[in-house]
Amino acid sequence: MSKHYNSESYWHAVILTLFPEIFPGPLNTSLAGKALKDKIWRLDVLNFRDFVLESAGKVDDEPFGGGAGMVMRPDIVDIALESASKLVDDKAPIIYLTPRGRPLDQTRIKKLASGPGAVLICGRYEGIDQRVIEAREVEEVSLGDFVLSGGEIASLALLDSVIRLLPGVLGNEESLSEESFEQNLLEYPHYTRPAVWHDLRGKKNCIPDILSSGDHGKIKNWRRKKSEEITQDRRPDLWAKHIIK
Ligand code: ADE
Repeated sequence: MSKHYNSESYWHAVILTLFPEIFPGPLNTSLAGKALKDKIWRLDVLNFRDFVLESAGKVDDEPFGGGAGMVMRPDIVDIALESASKLVDDKAPIIYLTPRGRPLDQTRIKKLASGPGAVLICGRYEGIDQRVIEAREVEEVSLGDFVLSGGEIASLALLDSVIRLLPGVLGNEESLSEESFEQNLLEYPHYTRPAVWHDLRGKKNCIPDILSSGDHGKIKNWRRKKSEEITQDRRPDLWAKHIIK
């Protein structure tokens, strides 16, 4: 379980976007929504359009060197970042959600949850000018090898995974130590009542006997074995990390 940065204050997210109406969106419901009302975390959303310079008149422009699409101007992104930096602790990283970024994983999420917050840049079009990424030491992060139409949905996903780790958000904190990616393993399968269930083809499906045996040692071993099998099968990359640790 990650330690909260400062038990007196909230975890602070500042989003920079061209579509502020997307937020908080799904983060206003369920666990994250309750945590927002309880001031466990806080969200500020800044609209890039509010920082457009009169001289430029727009947030984006054509790419130097030619090619498709538009690029977000460094001067406007920079002024928006300056405004964002006044809202959050200086230790909060600036993260740009992009398919070009390093893959996001649970280790990074835990580290973020133990810090003061984050500034999240949601790009649209072809992305943002490289110079502001370098000048502001922006961390580029990707959700995976697929392309979204902008960083907003990726930001929502990142925030959801951080918020559930903040102290007081999840009722059953014990379940965090058993979930996927702990020790580089995927989680074992789950079963509940009814113990015998007939599927739509009329086939009878029973739960694995061991789970109703009451033998907790054997159940633990069985779950571990299932975790290992599923990880080897689906995620050889994760399995390789698991066995060297
Ligand atoms: N923006 C567009 N595609 C993305 C992805 N795969 N991950 C993070 N941000 C993105």
